[in-house]
Amino acid sequence: MFNNQWGQGVTAASDNAVKALDETLMSYLGLARETGDLLKKTLSADADMVMGHCLKGYFYLLMASKPLLERLPKVLAAAQAAAGAASPREQAHVGALKLWAGGSEKAAVKVWEEILADNPHDVLALRLAHHAYFYMGAAGSMLDSIENVIGDWDKDMPGYGFTQGMRAFALEETGQYDDAEAAGRGAIDLNPDDPWAVHAIAHVMEMQNRYDEGIEWITGLEPHWVAANNFRYHLWWHRALMHLGRGELDQALELYDGSVHDPDSDEYLDLCNDASLLIRLELRGRDVGERWQAVAEKAAKRTEDRILPFVDCHFVAALAAGGKIEQAHGMVDGMQAQGGIFADVGAPVAKALIAHRQGDSADTVRLLEGVKDNIVTLGGSHAQRDLFNLVLKDAEGRA
Ligand SMILES: [Fe+2]
Repeated sequence: MFNNQWGQGVTAASDNAVKALDETLMSYLGLARETGDLLKKTLSADADMVMGHCLKGYFYLLMASKPLLERLPKVLAAAQAAAGAASPREQAHVGALKLWAGGSEKAAVKVWEEILADNPHDVLALRLAHHAYFYMGAAGSMLDSIENVIGDWDKDMPGYGFTQGMRAFALEETGQYDDAEAAGRGAIDLNPDDPWAVHAIAHVMEMQNRYDEGIEWITGLEPHWVAANNFRYHLWWHRALMHLGRGELDQALELYDGSVHDPDSDEYLDLCNDASLLIRLELRGRDVGERWQAVAEKAAKRTEDRILPFVDCHFVAALAAGGKIEQAHGMVDGMQAQGGIFADVGAPVAKALIAHRQGDSADTVRLLEGVKDNIVTLGGSHAQRDLFNLVLKDAEGRA
């Protein structure tokens, strides 16, 4: 047993392997592109490291792409095989991975919270819980989760800045904009290579209609976040929203073409950015030309994935906009069959987006009004879910 940089025991073959794991975790928190390579380095230093396999499984689930998810059982088996002599914290992670892989993310969150109760510096559990609450639309729990442990952290600990970035975002999503901004600025002062903290403040500025400042903030820090993984597209998306806020449709469309849309990506967040920005441009009267086709083609390859209710709604919108109405309806059927939030909230919202595309304003209003109070359970941020309000308002205006 070796100790990681937070003083937690890690079952590993060597100190070098643990150092590589530490680096991987820091890279994950910084949304850096080399995270996957660092994980490979970790597992080549110790092919049987339980936390290495666990992290691999978590990453596969976070990326939620079908080829990765098909390989997940093998990764889980490797984690379980390596867990025999592992610490209770590590075994709990393997348990959480098993639950999440089995579709019970809510149960996995409980395990991460239990890990945090005993190990408040377990940044992996902290970040995974943060992510899960975000996609459950559970902003209050997202804030509680970080506030419960933050007292145990001090500034000199590795990753402290990242915890402030998470705190900033949770404060923003619970509407505490001043505190969010203070925490986010504090995080950036400590470590400007923190795209999630940049993002938290972008959200504050978006919510407060501070478009000039927002553009300046995002652009000013671009040298730091431009090296991020595909999350960089989401920051450009935020900048495009601010141009829309200023009524600058041309700039928003230019950003779409040059920065937000990656022709080679089928990552779910990227497709959500694309669909959301195109709809917002259309709602403001801008013809987006043939741009929908590429997005619809990509969504068409992922209709069976059932990634997240929030994501699936965007995919359905893209399919409908790209003329793939049958596939859009097929995807709604799949959401319905999935049950839970997919069926109760996702499917009506997705149907509304199809109806809106087809010019059926009355149906759009009826469907969106029916789920208005539960739309938060789709997950995502206030700024992202605002798309559904904008569509509703548009339909109400037409109806
Ligand atoms: Fe965002």
